[in-house]
Amino acid sequence: MRVLVTGSSGQIGTNLALRLLDAGEEVLGLDRRPNPWTGRFRTVRLDLLEPLERIEEALADEGWDVLVHLAAHAKVHELVVHPERSLENVRTTFAAAELARRRGTPLVFGSSREAYGDVGEGLTAEDRPVVALSPYSASKIAGEALVRSYANCYGVPTLTFRFSNVYGRYDNDLERLERVTPLFIRELAAGREVTIYGRDKVLDFTYVDDCVAAVHAGIEALARGRLRDETINVATGQGSSLVDLAEYVADALGVEARYRVEPSRPGEITRYVADIGKARRLLGYEPTTFLREGVRKAVRWSGTQADPAALRRP
Ligand SMILES: NC(=O)c1ccc[n+]([C@@H]2O[C@H](COP(=O)([O-])OP(=O)(O)OC[C@H]3O[C@@H](n4cnc5c(N)ncnc54)[C@H](O)[C@@H]3O)[C@@H](O)[C@H]2O)c1
Repeated sequence: MRVLVTGSSGQIGTNLALRLLDAGEEVLGLDRRPNPWTGRFRTVRLDLLEPLERIEEALADEGWDVLVHLAAHAKVHELVVHPERSLENVRTTFAAAELARRRGTPLVFGSSREAYGDVGEGLTAEDRPVVALSPYSASKIAGEALVRSYANCYGVPTLTFRFSNVYGRYDNDLERLERVTPLFIRELAAGREVTIYGRDKVLDFTYVDDCVAAVHAGIEALARGRLRDETINVATGQGSSLVDLAEYVADALGVEARYRVEPSRPGEITRYVADIGKARRLLGYEPTTFLREGVRKAVRWSGTQADPAALRRP
């Protein structure tokens, strides 16, 4: 099977592409920047904000059986500061949906738990109406709506995944994109204090291998016609606070968990624990790495050593 992955130089894209290659699939990446982590697959350097004719021209000699659309501005807070980028997210999703329609291929869309708004536990059934909390959230809701409309009007087979706080590998390019787990690893290792926005915030952190295992299962089911036009949560079904995260990172590094607490920032959800029953049922998905263990793996992968001055005294 040939899989085109947009956003293939990013965290989930890189992990997914490598997993597909290891499974013997052909992968073509598409991203507007080169892949900083690996040269194992080819990347078409292209901006999905270009006019469609230009995108089609650049891909004229390329073929694929499934298109996985992950390209986006992927950070909630960044889009609170730059709301115009939420429109760019919608435009990239439109470009991906059009490509799928014109080539007659199925489409997988990387959405987010942000599509739920701030709903709390037990209210995460996939079909519930949604409220946008932030421009990022709005861009994912609009993307999901577009994708579903392409299924309805043009018969494009689609799958939408709602991811949640994916961490673990190919995610510590902090100068490009600040993510909480690699940020805590870097700062606590150096003996610096981290800021926790929202003491009581509870989130569902997903180890990246679990995330891409679900997407891989979805790609296969979609390509074989076993599944279509579903929206599926991918996470662990377990909630952790940012204080838990700081403690686990500190334990893995052997340092003190030094943090101060500030209120949640605008646009941030305060509680999300996914219902993963649908992923289990439709994809045979079962998360295998929970936060404490996942953080140990993430620290090992990053190769970060604690500053000797920051180490805990015995
Ligand atoms: N990582 C998470 O925790 C998480 C959670 C929920 C949803 N998501 C969604 O999953 C997808 C992948 O996330 P990620 O963490 O790998 O993000 P990422 O930022 O690491 O990767 C996104 C990639 O898309 C590329 N890109 C952005 N705009 C583009 C454009 N116009 N044309 C071409 N390439 C473009 C970027 O260069 C980047 O390499 C995103 O859609 C994100 O919103 C991620």
